[in-house]
Amino acid sequence: MARTKISVENKKKTVAKSTAKKKNASAKKAAAKKSHLRIDILTAVPELLTSPLNFSIVERAKKKGLVKIFIHNIRDYAKGKYKKVDDYSYGGDAGMVMMIEPVYTLITKLKKQRKYDEIIYLTPDGEVFNQQIANQLSLKKNIILLCGHYKGIDHRIREHLITKEISIGDYVLSGGEIAAAAISDTIIRLLPGALSDETSALSDSFQDNLLSAPIYTRPADFNGWKVPDVLLSGNHDKIAQWNDEQSLARTKKLRPDLLK
Ligand code: 6GU
Repeated sequence: MARTKISVENKKKTVAKSTAKKKNASAKKAAAKKSHLRIDILTAVPELLTSPLNFSIVERAKKKGLVKIFIHNIRDYAKGKYKKVDDYSYGGDAGMVMMIEPVYTLITKLKKQRKYDEIIYLTPDGEVFNQQIANQLSLKKNIILLCGHYKGIDHRIREHLITKEISIGDYVLSGGEIAAAAISDTIIRLLPGALSDETSALSDSFQDNLLSAPIYTRPADFNGWKVPDVLLSGNHDKIAQWNDEQSLARTKKLRPDLLK
């Protein structure tokens, strides 16, 4: 339906309309400038975060001014010749642990500059991330994502500096960076203006606890593999009904836990 709207609009190319559009675009830009989301990501391995947050929808959202992402290298806040950020754990065998001081110094510096809504530590023992948490975080103004690396971080950071702990699932990653990228991507695509109407986040899988219906594009017949007839019918009510039925059927079959 959104596609039809756009093609109709394209046909009405009047000067008045394009002026109005320009005004509208600059109003949107001004609005975006006023209220963007700021994400500060704290990591000892910033290289892991460069490409996932520099392309596609996230890159476009940055260019539109909807989000600002700052990646901080925890090592820059470490003391001494070797800029050490980890040390042996007390009591033994746990492997290397991220030290308090560099993280404390960095978080304290950021907190002096602005108020943070959440300071989130990414850890496999946190609350499991889902669309609902993403929706909540997308409404915030300033958030910090702290990526652990090595075996973990000194527990006093979690007790005294962290306001929320998030995991992206029941498996163990080498560090929080990939989780930070996944969470940032999920939040950013929800920001108003990040997606075009056609790809609205409202029709995403999980947004209403249902999986999406199957989707297709041309050709309608690929060597005998056919697109369902109803999608070619042009009957929008029927198509909407088919999508709803498919959504429900796929959720029942593949993710019955979502319906409970
Ligand atoms: Cl947030 N961090 C790590 N290291 N492993 C994970 C995770 C986070 N979420 C799932 N596994």
